[in-house]
Amino acid sequence: MNQPTHRTLKNLGYYLLAFLAILIALYPLTYFVLDRNFGLLQSKDEALLLNVFWNIGFYTHILAGGLALLIGWIQFSQKLRIKQKRLHKLIGKTYVVLVILSGMAGIGIGFFATGGWIAKIGFITLGLIWLYTTAAGFSSAKAGDYLTHQKMMTYSYAACFAAVTLRIYLPLLIMLFGDFIPAYRVVAWLCWVPNLFFAYALNSKLRDSVSVEIGPV
Ligand code: HEM
Repeated sequence: MNQPTHRTLKNLGYYLLAFLAILIALYPLTYFVLDRNFGLLQSKDEALLLNVFWNIGFYTHILAGGLALLIGWIQFSQKLRIKQKRLHKLIGKTYVVLVILSGMAGIGIGFFATGGWIAKIGFITLGLIWLYTTAAGFSSAKAGDYLTHQKMMTYSYAACFAAVTLRIYLPLLIMLFGDFIPAYRVVAWLCWVPNLFFAYALNSKLRDSVSVEIGPV
């Protein structure tokens, strides 16, 4: 593929990533605007809906997760990384804090996920991977290893992007299975496993020279 075509495709991919991230990042707001008889909450029993800890976990998860998704894509702009190093660091540190909050809360509410153990283990594994890759991405930036930093943050945002892919696949899977529960069990895994393979493919194209020097965090 010639250089301009390659660059155009890359830019289109980036704008699509940004568009989908912003769209889904705003979705949690519906839980604050509409009454509690909405979305996932409809599938929960009364005892869980009254549980203070579950509620704290749920709202922390969707609010911090929405914000992490909203700001994360900005970090993949090479122009910004080179020209606005301070901004890159500020957004990066904010993203890490949001991931810690949303990831820990996501793991907590994961134990109560609809769809039984298959769905629970899917979400909990995703949460652990999200926390691990983000922590590894942050510590490698601190250590000045920017290639590992870039790779780990690509994995981290691929995990974060599960929020987007879940909402694309779920309606299709419900149509396929004709039922919510089997579709939800499948999507608890399908929303993130292919994303990580995609991140692996992107990362395997990175060479040392591609990694951008941004100085210590
Ligand atoms: C990447 C790690 C993530 C994990 C491990 C995770 C885990 C979970 C779990 C366990 C639930 C509850 C499922 C249930 O009770 O059946 C949930 C629901 C939800 N999550 Fe996440 N999540 C992640 C990322 C995100 C992000 C980045 C957002 C931002 C938009 C988000 C927004 C939501 C929303 C809005 C719900 C409510 C369900 C719905 O309306 O579809 N999650 N998540």
